[in-house]
Parts: sequence; structure tokens; C-alpha cells
Amino acid sequence: MNRRIFLAAMASAAAPVRALPPQSKDPFDLGVASGDPTANGVVLWTRLTPETGAGNLRVTWEAAEDEQFRKIAKKGRTVATPGLGHSVHVEVNGLQPDRWYWYRFRIGPHESPVGRTRTMPSAGSLPEKFRFTFASCQHFEQGYFTAYQHMAEENPDLVVHLGDYIYEGPPRPNLVRRHNSPEIVTLSDYRNRYALYRSDEHLRRMHALAPWIVTWDDHELDNNYAGDIPEDKQTRAEFLERRANAYQAYYEHMPLRRASIPSGSRMRLYRRVSFGGLAEFFVLDSRQYRTDQPCGDGNKEQCPAALDESATILGMDQERWLTGGLADSRARWNVLAQQVMVAKVDRKSGPGEQYSMDQWSGYEAARRRLTGFLGDRKPSNPVVLTGDIHTNWCNDLKAGGFGENDAVVASEFVGTSISSGGDGSDAPGDWESTLAENPHVKFHNRRRGYVRCDVTPGQWRTDYRTVEYVARLGAPVATRASFVLENGRLGVQKA
Ligand SMILES: [Fe+2]
Repeated sequence: MNRRIFLAAMASAAAPVRALPPQSKDPFDLGVASGDPTANGVVLWTRLTPETGAGNLRVTWEAAEDEQFRKIAKKGRTVATPGLGHSVHVEVNGLQPDRWYWYRFRIGPHESPVGRTRTMPSAGSLPEKFRFTFASCQHFEQGYFTAYQHMAEENPDLVVHLGDYIYEGPPRPNLVRRHNSPEIVTLSDYRNRYALYRSDEHLRRMHALAPWIVTWDDHELDNNYAGDIPEDKQTRAEFLERRANAYQAYYEHMPLRRASIPSGSRMRLYRRVSFGGLAEFFVLDSRQYRTDQPCGDGNKEQCPAALDESATILGMDQERWLTGGLADSRARWNVLAQQVMVAKVDRKSGPGEQYSMDQWSGYEAARRRLTGFLGDRKPSNPVVLTGDIHTNWCNDLKAGGFGENDAVVASEFVGTSISSGGDGSDAPGDWESTLAENPHVKFHNRRRGYVRCDVTPGQWRTDYRTVEYVARLGAPVATRASFVLENGRLGVQKA
């Protein structure tokens, strides 16, 4: 266990549990959340905000079968400790599969908002339908989170967040909102930044409406970092201390299981979540274990080092875990919930090629191992979900090159940002020439929004939901494009 967390836990165990000193401010102002559901359990989350240096605090919780809390399914008490920022992570078990629950927390005279969550269908079942939404990249300063206001109307069974939940930078002028400190480095900096982001009512509400499964990308720590290598001028020791702060604050603010409690500057985030036998999510971490970008940063031609077999974006342990899991999976749809684009997309118009070195195309050996595995072992209906680049894309994935004759091994849906990049546009930009040179890319768009997926045993449908603007509140939402996958048939089709 992280020494700091260990010491905090020891001190907490020795210290008495106290009542919350009287305060006028709502200690539940960061809201409630739930996550990582199984067929009979889910994580219930909140984080208390005591006004002054409180010690260990006793919190009670209830989960009910109805919104009025007439039929309590489970209840209990837990202790929120200062060592973990008074965060509360209750792993409820013994619930019924495939049903909705309502939950709340209490401390002294204060009651939390009511959250709604659900369990997943049981492992052997093949559910008839499943709706989830996915999102990424929510820069607080660059736009309002109107996308979440619309997502709340979609009634998803699950929300998947693919990272850039916060951004680490200092405040910048002339944007719609403002960051609350210089670039974040310390644990208290990161905690304050999460609290700022959770001050957004649409984000808080979406957390209270459905369970989430979350993973991070780079900005939860530092732009475009790789493993223990920072973007900024920091020593490795300084960077690992910062990484420990960032990872701990992430754990404290997300509805994650105990298995994800950080250990020093390491934190296990890759894991599986199942929706019965219909969909299996392999939630990946492509930041913590990656080797340094073999060919450096930016968009460029792949250098020979990109083909070095030791170059890895997942790390070898996670890669083995993923391929082992895919080989064993009996799910109808096998979903990789991850960060950076897997499709190899030539960004240079005309002769010559340029690829993004921060994406899987910068780690060509690892990209070929994954796509080669999918092509050889043929797990049932592989689908990749991606965030990171603040634009919508729909790609067929191919193993080696991407010529007409190369076989499709999976499809990839890249979701745009919630707000990062500001309003966006429908202007094609350099998209038309990109499309001409990349026939495996079926769609590209630069609006903000989220992605909705309706999954049945026979078909997967993806709707790209976009908002007209984020610089002002109240933008309407529309479906910008839709694609389907048929069970047992590789390659997307326009819906
Ligand atoms: Fe981002």
C-alpha cells in the first residue's frame, strides 16, 4: 500500500470516529456516484466536504428498491477518513441482478442527494437490449457540459468515461469558466480541481442517474505523459510524487473498487465489467505502463523503432491480461474501452505518410500485436471505444496496412469531447483529403457531444450525438451520424 495512505490508515484506525462538527455548508456538495456494477453489487460513492480539519467521520448509507426508500435492500455504516480526503466507497453486495436501485448517504443532520444505479444482468443471461453512452475530454474552461444535460435524457444503463475527466493546466483568460489554481501538482491541488469540475450540475446529475465505468487518459495527471516520463521539466522522482498525488485524487473522486486503491505511484485501473453475456468491457489504461514514444512526439512517419517489439502502450502484463481475457470471453460483444485511436490514419495529404505518435500508430508493434490477435483468434464481435482527440470518428480496424484487400478485424468508434476545444464546427477542414487516403475511416466530425450505443444480441447501433455549441448554455442535441454492426459480420455499415 502507498506509504502515505498506509500511514493515514494507521492513524485513522487509532483515531476515534467523531460526529461532523456543526456546519452550515452542505457536506455532500460534490454529489453522489456509483460505478463498476456486477450482477449483484455496485460501488456507491460520495466525498464529504467538512468545513474545518475534521478527523474520522461516521457515514451511514442505504440502498433501496424504490425512489421513496420504502423498501430498503441494504444499509450500513462506514468511516470517511482524512487520509483519503473523506471519500466514501461502499462496495454493496447481495443485490438482485438486472434491476435499478436508489441510494443515499447521511451524516448528522445532513442527507445526500439521492442517486440511482443498477446491477448488471446475471452472467449466464443474454439480455435483449442494453443502452450505454460514452464520453471523454471535459475541459471546464473551454465549454459548458451541456452534453451531459442531454445524456441524462437518454436513460442509459451505464456511462463509460474514457478519460480527460479534468485538465491539469492553469487558468486562462477569455474562456467560459476558470480553473481555480495554477497547474496542479500537489494532492490538495488535484482534490480542488476535481471539486471544481464536480461543481458542474449536469456532470453531478449524470453521476447520480446511472453507474459509470471510468478510466483515465493523460490530463488526469499531465499532458501526453508516458509511464514515468513527464511532459514538463520535472525529475523522475518529482514526477512520480506528482503521479501518486494525481492517482490518489482520481481514486478519491471516482466510484472505484478497493482493488484500485493506489499503491505509491501505481494504481490498477484495468479491469472487466460485464453486461450479462451480451457485452464484456475490457477497460484499459494506455498511459501508466507505456514505454516512451518510440519515434518521439507529433505527427510523423513511423520510424524503425515503432516496430521494436519491446515498444508497448499497455505494458506487457496488461497486454497478456487483455488477450487472455478476449480468448476466454464468451460474450456476444467484446468491447475495449480505452483512450487513444487504434486505427492507423495517414494525416498527410498526397504522397508520403504521417501518423500520430501519441496514438497506437506511434507504437506500431503493439498495434500489430493487438490487431493481429483479433484477426487470428477472432473473439466474438470486437468493438473499440476511444476518446482523446476531441472529434468523432468511425473506423474499421485492419491488421497490417489499410488497403482495400486487408481484412477488417474490428471496428472503432471514437467519441468527441464533452467540451474540450470549444464550440467545434461541421466544416470539413482537412477531412476530405484524409478520407480519400484512408478508406477504412467511415466518418469524421468536429462537434462536441457524446456517443450513444444500443446493443442487442443481433445488432450494435452507434449514434453520434452532437451539441451545436458549448460556449453558451442550452444548446440543442442532434444525431450527427449513425452506424451499425451486425452480429458475426466485421465492418461498420451506415445506418
Ligand atoms: Fe482531451
